[in-house]
Amino acid sequence: MSKPILEVQDFSVDFWVDGVWYPAAIKMNFELHPGKVLAIVGESGSGKSTTALGLMSLLASNARMTGSVKVRDQEMLNANSAVLRKFRGKEVAYIFQEPMTALNPIYTIGFQIVETLRTHFDLSPRLARVRAVELLTLVEIPNPEQSFDKYPHQLSGGQRQRAMIAQALACDPGLLVADEPTTALDVTVQAEILDLMRGLKDKLNSAILLITHDMGVVADMADEILVMKDGFTVERGTTDQIFNRPAHPYTQQLLAAVPKLGSSKQRHLVQTENVKAEPVLKLTDVSIEYPKRGRIPAFLAVKNFNLEIYPGEIVGLEVNLVQERQLLVELQLVFCQSSKVLLRSSEKTLVELPKRISLQFAVTQELFSKILPLLSIRACQSENRSASQSSLQV
Ligand SMILES: Nc1ncnc2c1ncn2[C@@H]1O[C@H](COP(=O)(O)OP(=O)(O)OP(=O)(O)O)[C@@H](O)[C@H]1O
Ligand SMILES: [Mg+2]
Repeated sequence: MSKPILEVQDFSVDFWVDGVWYPAAIKMNFELHPGKVLAIVGESGSGKSTTALGLMSLLASNARMTGSVKVRDQEMLNANSAVLRKFRGKEVAYIFQEPMTALNPIYTIGFQIVETLRTHFDLSPRLARVRAVELLTLVEIPNPEQSFDKYPHQLSGGQRQRAMIAQALACDPGLLVADEPTTALDVTVQAEILDLMRGLKDKLNSAILLITHDMGVVADMADEILVMKDGFTVERGTTDQIFNRPAHPYTQQLLAAVPKLGSSKQRHLVQTENVKAEPVLKLTDVSIEYPKRGRIPAFLAVKNFNLEIYPGEIVGLEVNLVQERQLLVELQLVFCQSSKVLLRSSEKTLVELPKRISLQFAVTQELFSKILPLLSIRACQSENRSASQSSLQV
């Protein structure tokens, strides 16, 4: 068997808070071989990110680490900064949930990839640029040449994630640490990013340490799984073992909580006397248009959209066509961010919405959590607004 790229022995992390050391990861032991995927799963706050960041000493200054973390036989704990710099990015690269935290907003994505390349390789600026464009092509960013000169905020969430992956892969790292790499993305982009990671693993024989709440992604990607709770490793085994023969009650509980398609109980909507069978939210034939701004022409973001939500009802929107999905995202953006929005019905302008109307709209799995605050906020707003002002009926 190949030599492990990562060997973690009795690795613990404590945080110093208000005069007390709080343990966040306790006596962790695992190893990772080239071409393999180890998933760390567990509830929020169980110590997954702490473990991942601690491997390369990326934790806040109130953290204390003990034990041993070896990357290609080199000890990382208490290594000097020159050693850490050499290994970070080159041997161990990170992908985070929110690319904006990893990418610097004031530099173009191309510049950032070039900088990573030139830190680790003796490359001329021209050759580094060629390689950066190659990487952007590899991660399937549209128009890589032009995207090279874009700032992070000029890319979509999925494109930013790809840019961060391109940067992470710039030096062909032996180990990729991916902390919730797809949680912020909708399902179709998520599948593309996972495909990308899988392809790169096969191509470069890199190992992946994957942290995710999504057991579907774990089942799909992982060779081995480590289950954490309150800083402890409660169970570790192959994906087959953990999914089919989970030994620890916590793992069993974790797996039981995964919703299975078609197995959920039928929900019955309770109609009380106070709740009329009127829709709580009704969008009728709604189109949304960004007005012309200077030389930027008017843009019709959503066209003839209809939706009714009744009391107690949960509506999920799943739109697969990229263009339509974009339209729904626009709908959300328009309500949340735009300074001036025209809400139209059958080509007649109904209302010009004021800046930052507190109305949110979401697509796919985020809908439920977003729709609840939406409804109460709308209810408050409707008191100050005449019915004719909008086709949104609350
Ligand atoms: N800088 C810090 N100072 C003090 N405590 C911290 C610090 N960073 C993390 N913690 C604590 O360490 C514990 C583990 O946090 P960690 O971020 O590793 O959780 P996690 O498993 O990644 O959770 P999530 O799934 O929500 O990302 C938590 O109790 C957290 O509050
Ligand atoms: Mg985390």
